[in-house]
Amino acid sequence: MNQPIFSNATADDASEILALLQAVQLPHEGVLEHLSSFTIVRDDAGKLIACAGVEHYGDIGLLRSVAVVPGGQKTGLGTRLIESVLTQAAQSGIVEMVLLTTTARDFFAGKLGFQVTSREPYQERLAASPEWQLPRCASAVVMKKDLAVKEWDCLIKPTPMQCQMMGEGP
Ligand SMILES: CC(C)(COP(=O)(O)OP(=O)(O)OC[C@H]1O[C@@H](n2cnc3c(N)ncnc32)[C@H](O)[C@@H]1OP(=O)(O)O)[C@@H](O)C(=O)NCCC(=O)NCCS
Repeated sequence: MNQPIFSNATADDASEILALLQAVQLPHEGVLEHLSSFTIVRDDAGKLIACAGVEHYGDIGLLRSVAVVPGGQKTGLGTRLIESVLTQAAQSGIVEMVLLTTTARDFFAGKLGFQVTSREPYQERLAASPEWQLPRCASAVVMKKDLAVKEWDCLIKPTPMQCQMMGEGP
């Protein structure tokens, strides 16, 4: 496969997203309502090979429907997809990403840096989420990741002008 193509989902992608979720046995409740904040990945033949959605609740995001086609798993695509989704979410003002999982705790805890947390602090703020309310998600592991840009991070990063003065590229 050549370079996978990442894009934001549109209504035209809905049926393929739902088919992929069915193939990996993930819930479809709430997908259509939140379709505009789904990221999809297609291969060079145009086939949908991965997706991930974010439900927005103020500055909290609920990451959901993270799926890679069964034949394409464990090749790094899922990690690339979530890194891209988290970058986009941080840029859109989300400071904390939360997710529910029964199947992929170690995937999210590894390179992606999510931590296991409890459900209780999010009950009220995520109450409107169709996925959060699903009976089968009641016993799922809750994980979170802080996306806030740390102030000191900005302070220690040299500006392009400072880089030039230090003789480095921007
Ligand atoms: C979970 C999923 C999205 C991961 O995507 P992927 O492209 O297979 O993941 P990557 O190749 O980027 O894997 C990164 C690491 O996570 C591990 N990993 C992948 N899927 C895993 C899983 N389900 N559980 C635990 N670890 C997993 C990989 O082995 C790899 O480990 P390594 O870095 O030590 O080699 C994909 O396996 C999938 O679609 N699974 C079915 C649907 C699902 O369970 N989604 C999560 C819902 S919350």
